[in-house]
Amino acid sequence: MSSFRTPRGYVVAGVAAAVLLTGCGSDSLGGDTGADDAAGVAGGPVDIGLLVPTSGVYAPLGEDMEQGFRLFLDQNDGKLGGREANIHVVDEGESPDTGVPGAQRLVQQQVDAVVGIVNSGTALGVRDLFEESQIPLIIANAGADAITGERKSDYVWRTSFSNGAVAAPLGTYVAENCESAFLVAADYAAGKEATAAFEKTFTAAGGNVAGSVYPPFGTTTNYQPFLAQITQSGADCVYTFFAGAEAVAFTKQYRELGVTAALYSSGFLTEGGVLTAAGEAAVGVETSLHYSDQLDNERNTEFVEAYQAAYDEAPTVYAVQAYDAAQALDQALADGAETGAEIVDGLQGIDTIDSPRGEFGFDDGHGPDQTYYLRKVESKDGGLINTVVQELDAS
Ligand code: BEZ
Repeated sequence: MSSFRTPRGYVVAGVAAAVLLTGCGSDSLGGDTGADDAAGVAGGPVDIGLLVPTSGVYAPLGEDMEQGFRLFLDQNDGKLGGREANIHVVDEGESPDTGVPGAQRLVQQQVDAVVGIVNSGTALGVRDLFEESQIPLIIANAGADAITGERKSDYVWRTSFSNGAVAAPLGTYVAENCESAFLVAADYAAGKEATAAFEKTFTAAGGNVAGSVYPPFGTTTNYQPFLAQITQSGADCVYTFFAGAEAVAFTKQYRELGVTAALYSSGFLTEGGVLTAAGEAAVGVETSLHYSDQLDNERNTEFVEAYQAAYDEAPTVYAVQAYDAAQALDQALADGAETGAEIVDGLQGIDTIDSPRGEFGFDDGHGPDQTYYLRKVESKDGGLINTVVQELDAS
């Protein structure tokens, strides 16, 4: 189970990305990686960079992503597209200050493809690097809207979501029950994009926004001043975007300070270890997301069982997104693709990914064409779950 410390406890000093070597590859990213040797050898090993946070407020998300990616490998003899896969894990850290150098390092080493990235700012910061180096990047979390919109690239794909796509359908739904909403979100690209999308659909459906506030990302541990503003606004409900350690601190303090407005959020607020750590404080929170481990389909049942057996915990959306990135690479490499351009052709040729969230294909921006669900936190068998209430209308 992922553990959560305070956001401050996770703050990363300096800009150098830590490099962790794990998995099948025994090579060092600081020296001869073997990646150059492998690239271009038909049927030879494939080198994949896994750029995920192993430090900072999003470290638990990175752990889930690595577990999801490795589960697919474990189920497929350590291979992608029939080729032995060497995995090079690099710490994304908390922000672009660490994530961008991490990506540069993997590109310099000429890995065959990169998977990962949690933070929207990092995704935006590395987009041109991958386009120019012609190394395919599959983003397995970061939701920056432009990445699959106006800044889409042949070389950048995404198996996760866009921040606006998760928040927009929730705005329409919330307006059915709430006249006046307060918006509070982490002060960086993801929080800003999520609140903008929520506000657009919420106001279009007749809701009124009573106010908004953006606590500094990565350093805020005391949400009291922001929560006081919510109470003063008199709003009936609150929409929020927080994830990782910040989600735990926000939700606990929301209840401790007795804020009575109904709490709605993009689903990251109550996902995985965050939900366990927030405990009773999260009960009743309603969220939108494209996955819950409670989804009732055969593929998900099988996936949940396998994940539980491998890691002794339930899977999260982060694990599923990385598992599906492995599935996408598996398909893209299956016809002997070797160069970045050939891998991109392979990605382009994918019809559907058989995901635990339900089958999906890629849209024109290279993001998933998928269903979003309304989820509600409930107590069950002594634990907490994200019950799937209904599909949300994404129109
Ligand atoms: C983002 O930065 O896009 C993000 C981070 C954590 C959870 C969801 C989105």
